[in-house]
Amino acid sequence: MSTALPAALDQPLLRRADFGDFQLPNRVVMAPTTRARAVDDGLVPTPMHATHYGQRASAGLIITESTWVSERAVGFVNVPGIYSEPQVTAWRQVTDTVHALGGRIVLQLWHTGAASHPDHLGGRLPAGPSAINPRVMSFTASGFQETVTPREMTARDIRTAIADFRTAAANARRAGFDGVEIAALGSFLIAQFLNPGLNRRSDAYGGDRARRRQLLLDIIDAVAEPWDGRCVGVRLGPYLTPGEPFRVDEDLLADYDALVAQLNDHPVAYLHLRGKDRTTPGAVPDFEAIARYRRAFHGPLIANNGFDRESANAVIEAGTADAVSFATHFIANPDLVARFATGHDLAVADRDTYYTGGARGYVDHQVSAAE
Ligand SMILES: Cc1cc2nc3c(=O)[nH]c(=O)nc-3n(C[C@H](O)[C@H](O)[C@H](O)COP(=O)(O)O)c2cc1C
Repeated sequence: MSTALPAALDQPLLRRADFGDFQLPNRVVMAPTTRARAVDDGLVPTPMHATHYGQRASAGLIITESTWVSERAVGFVNVPGIYSEPQVTAWRQVTDTVHALGGRIVLQLWHTGAASHPDHLGGRLPAGPSAINPRVMSFTASGFQETVTPREMTARDIRTAIADFRTAAANARRAGFDGVEIAALGSFLIAQFLNPGLNRRSDAYGGDRARRRQLLLDIIDAVAEPWDGRCVGVRLGPYLTPGEPFRVDEDLLADYDALVAQLNDHPVAYLHLRGKDRTTPGAVPDFEAIARYRRAFHGPLIANNGFDRESANAVIEAGTADAVSFATHFIANPDLVARFATGHDLAVADRDTYYTGGARGYVDHQVSAAE
């Protein structure tokens, strides 16, 4: 057992926050973490999902794992969806559990686009902004496989994808979520459209900076409809660089500057920003990479990537972020808020259990009082 330090309840992370539609009792946000536990063929969440999220209900806000907006969006094994009635019913168990325990929970909406693989799509080619292979790995039933050259999405495909996001957002509302978050980062559909290396279109969704961001803006507006223009977060991050097509240069950063400024004209409840990867483990995250977007976006900002208690308190105290989200720390510390409050040591997550399925590493972590 480790020795708990005296409570430090005056730290910025533990202050209440009013994010418009979201009233947070603290600023410790649970970041989305895909855990590949929806092992059912219909990609339905299980009772273990309710336990997992219920255990973390003391977070200021829970953002769920990325969740498929439709069968067309699938690109990773055992990830749940929000497009079928059994999925909506099962997610209702999750939201009821979190709410009964006093928490707030939003659903993250995901579409992998060209980063999917034919194995996920009944043998059909994935579709993306242009017929350019994003050259990333897709986690399939037979392990990680390299992506293929996708087909270019037609205008109708784009309308369908936007409609899928709208329907998924409506389903999330029926399932009892407090809101939704659009996953617009990584190597996935929306980030593919934002990327001039992968988006060579010459229609309303490509050709210049303004048209490359149009898909995201249309999706935000569509997703906000069933929520009456409220409760929609956006997760962005230009810095996730799994390979050459996702290289970050000054042009791409300028695209994101313009995009973030334009979010002010759309119904965005908060911006959830994944900052730069740290150069060395243990280094303090680069605050300036977050401050750049703080200056451009007028609403609440959640910062992420590599924060601990000290750096998270500092980034909030500096006024650079309103809240901080934690992924790996929440995996191993369901009571992360209490541990921050008491200065208790943090348990370390076991990477080997991230995507393996089952209870181990998912619902079996001890809370600090029990250690
Ligand atoms: C196991 C695992 C699963 C993740 N799944 C998602 C996801 O579903 N959606 C998403 O936007 N980010 C996902 N991420 C990224 C995290 O949300 C976060 O950006 C990253 O882990 C850095 O934050 P941290 O330093 O607090 O761990 C995942 C990260 C991990 C470790």
